[in-house]
Amino acid sequence: MTQSAQSTHAGRIALITGAATGIGRATAIAFANAGANLALADIDSAQMDQTRRLAEQAGAKVLCLSADLSSTAQVERMVAQTVSRFGRIDCAFNNAGISGEIAPLADSSEDNWDTVIGINLKSVWACMKYEIRQMLTQGAGAIVNTASVLGLVGGARAPAYVASKHGVMGLTKSAAIAYAAQGIRVNAVCPGYIETPLIDKVMQQHPEYRDQIIAQHPIGRMGSPEEIAQAVLWLCSDGASFVTGHGLAADGGFVAR
Ligand SMILES: NC(=O)c1ccc[n+]([C@@H]2O[C@H](COP(=O)([O-])OP(=O)(O)OC[C@H]3O[C@@H](n4cnc5c(N)ncnc54)[C@H](O)[C@@H]3O)[C@@H](O)[C@H]2O)c1
Repeated sequence: MTQSAQSTHAGRIALITGAATGIGRATAIAFANAGANLALADIDSAQMDQTRRLAEQAGAKVLCLSADLSSTAQVERMVAQTVSRFGRIDCAFNNAGISGEIAPLADSSEDNWDTVIGINLKSVWACMKYEIRQMLTQGAGAIVNTASVLGLVGGARAPAYVASKHGVMGLTKSAAIAYAAQGIRVNAVCPGYIETPLIDKVMQQHPEYRDQIIAQHPIGRMGSPEEIAQAVLWLCSDGASFVTGHGLAADGGFVAR
């Protein structure tokens, strides 16, 4: 990595949700390597502590916030604690999410609908609400929400998940339009299937899906969390200063088919 790439986010404050594992952890480490200081939030404090250690080794100052982000009150507290510690939020990565049950619509449960929408969609709304209030006081900020390729196209096996991720795209575009003139950019990253604990769980239940899933990616493999982290860092960087309201597919060609 060049010196300029290393310092892309020097001195910035990045708030990352779902930072305990997977894409959130990889993005935390990438921000730390790019010079940022971090507020990390997750419901899994033990794994988040491991992310903290890795980010501190890369030179970041790190605040860990244990929170269930399906609670709007806990989201509000997360943002307040971040501002109390660091004074500002330059980049916010709203990434916490779950896959929910794997079942076609007629077999899916109401409990699963409420849980998936609560964590994947309502929490993104709540995060943006409080992050944007802070960014308006700064006159600047960049937000990236984690959607999915399943926020761009349908999928037969997880209707609540697909609906939640299409909802994230809608929230992203709405906020981008509303706050573009006030210096706040809002984008989404749309990963293809990425090798993380979330996908490991699905594969353990349905090992027969692995080959089918890989076949949906023209590049011939699933992605790595680090590949998504690089897309997020770019969307938050000055290099993306004219990019807002966009869903960036980092997907090995999944939606190009
Ligand atoms: N892995 C993939 O193939 C893939 C593809 C597209 C999109 N995504 C999305 O990427 C995001 C990150 O997922 P991942 O693959 O890294 O999985 P992951 O399971 O490794 O990470 C998700 C994190 O969110 C946290 N989390 C879950 N519910 C929470 C809650 N209520 N409050 C606080 N934290 C909570 C988990 O503890 C975990 O650390 C999710 O939004 C997921 O939908 C993943």
